[in-house]
Amino acid sequence: MTAATVTEPAVELDGITKRFPGVVANRDIHLHVAKGQIHAIVGENGAGKSTLMKILYGMQRPDEGEIRINGSPVGFHTPADAIAAGIGMVHQHFMLADNLTVLENVVLGSEPRKGGIALDFAAAHKRIKEISDAYGLGIRPDATVEELGVGDRQRVEILKVLYRGARILILDEPTAVLVPHEVEELFGNLRDLVSQGLTILFISHKLDEVLRVADAITVIRRGTTVATVDPKDVTARGLAELMVGSELPSPETRESTVTDVVALSVRGLSVLTDGRAVVDDASFDIHKGEVLGIAGVEGNGQAELVEAIMGMRACTADLLTLNGASIADWSTLRRRAGGIGYIPEDRHRHGLLLESPLWENRVLGHQTRRPNARGIWIDRAGARADTRRIVEEYDVRTPGIDVDAAALSGGNQQKLIVGREMSGDPVLLIASHPTRGVDVGAQAAIWDHLRRARAAGLAVLLISADLDELIGLSDSLKVILRGRIVADVDPATVTPEQLGSAMTGAGEGA
Ligand SMILES: Nc1ncnc2c1ncn2[C@@H]1O[C@H](COP(=O)(O)OP(=O)(O)OP(=O)(O)O)[C@@H](O)[C@H]1O
Ligand SMILES: [Mg+2]
Repeated sequence: MTAATVTEPAVELDGITKRFPGVVANRDIHLHVAKGQIHAIVGENGAGKSTLMKILYGMQRPDEGEIRINGSPVGFHTPADAIAAGIGMVHQHFMLADNLTVLENVVLGSEPRKGGIALDFAAAHKRIKEISDAYGLGIRPDATVEELGVGDRQRVEILKVLYRGARILILDEPTAVLVPHEVEELFGNLRDLVSQGLTILFISHKLDEVLRVADAITVIRRGTTVATVDPKDVTARGLAELMVGSELPSPETRESTVTDVVALSVRGLSVLTDGRAVVDDASFDIHKGEVLGIAGVEGNGQAELVEAIMGMRACTADLLTLNGASIADWSTLRRRAGGIGYIPEDRHRHGLLLESPLWENRVLGHQTRRPNARGIWIDRAGARADTRRIVEEYDVRTPGIDVDAAALSGGNQQKLIVGREMSGDPVLLIASHPTRGVDVGAQAAIWDHLRRARAAGLAVLLISADLDELIGLSDSLKVILRGRIVADVDPATVTPEQLGSAMTGAGEGA
């Protein structure tokens, strides 16, 4: 080794193997992470990234292999052991309590005690301020979490981990929920952290981002590490090819399939929360064969709009029709049976029963229809056969349809939901972040499925934080800001940068 390449290792994982029933999630993994670096880990859905990070964080025990932290071998039994060794993990699903303050969330589980009894909130307050200032996180300890946007919530999660003394941070898909300017802010924070000697492990499917922020990138393919590369020596396409182990197909050109038949019509739709209009007088049509994209920073009313159309949230509207029939008084189940497919924003809260097998999840929300039901009875055989079809067509990587949904990797859970909601020829698909957490190959496959269904007449309402996806898939594009639809944008000509600034209201009134 030359002097320039000698860096102190913070994390060394050697020969790690982890088996689950029917799958080898990790097989002879070798990963060396230098202190003071941002080290990215990329790989297809189900490649074994989260499993490896859970092993490093003491949530799971490896069957074989050695872990060294700062040069010393360790054997973690619980996350508490990992925390004691200076390792912290920010999970993809935020784990903050909305109705509590930042201070309360941060000290939950690690309360500072004075004289062994009372919580010393004054001391905690002071330390949170200190950490926030030291790393430029800009966090107010007294803010309640529900008033914070996603970017801030993520910084609170990071602060929580730093508060527990972490010097090695694991971030599993931290940018999946962030829009571009929030990603930039996060990367600024990460740079500050590593410049002060912390080490960051970072998982993402967004390869351009990985190339921009990482000091080193390790590729995992089918459970094992296949390469560690310098971002300066590789392109996003090259990385994707390393991930799948072959050359990628080129994207096809697209032509419009929009018809003049209206599938969904919305006029004057408003949603009130505590007297405030979180959706304010929204009106639009979606035609058969059309994808209407809604662009907005998370929290500007898109979730409420979707829930109102699904009948999950009270709203007022002058008109709400599907194929010409008013659906305003229909229950959610009836709207689904009437032909609305729904890919929810939060797959764990609204999309899946994690403790149930895949085939039961196939039935969820579709329990009144073929092939899952015959008359009033659930058709087990029909549901099982159709689950096998979805697993096949959507490339859901699973040992079988009897495993619980919880056993699937995040991206494979998402593919199952997309396959289910595209089943039964829906009239309208409401897709919130349809490819969140799926790898680039699977994303292209889902886009193909959507385009094919659109060509056959499907209308789609698309919400996505991925601006390339919004621009690439949408036939029409509207911007939502503080509950109001404020602009129409032409997806054929707009750039992600222009769309990003329209979303934040930059140039408003100018
Ligand atoms: N608790 C579990 N029980 C059984 N199998 C599991 C469990 N956790 C993970 N697996 C399996 O291990 C493999 C690796 O999953 P993992 O979650 O590590 O993938 P990943 O690389 O993080 O994927 P994604 O990008 O989709 O999040 C998958 O085949 C998954 O189904
Ligand atoms: Mg994962």
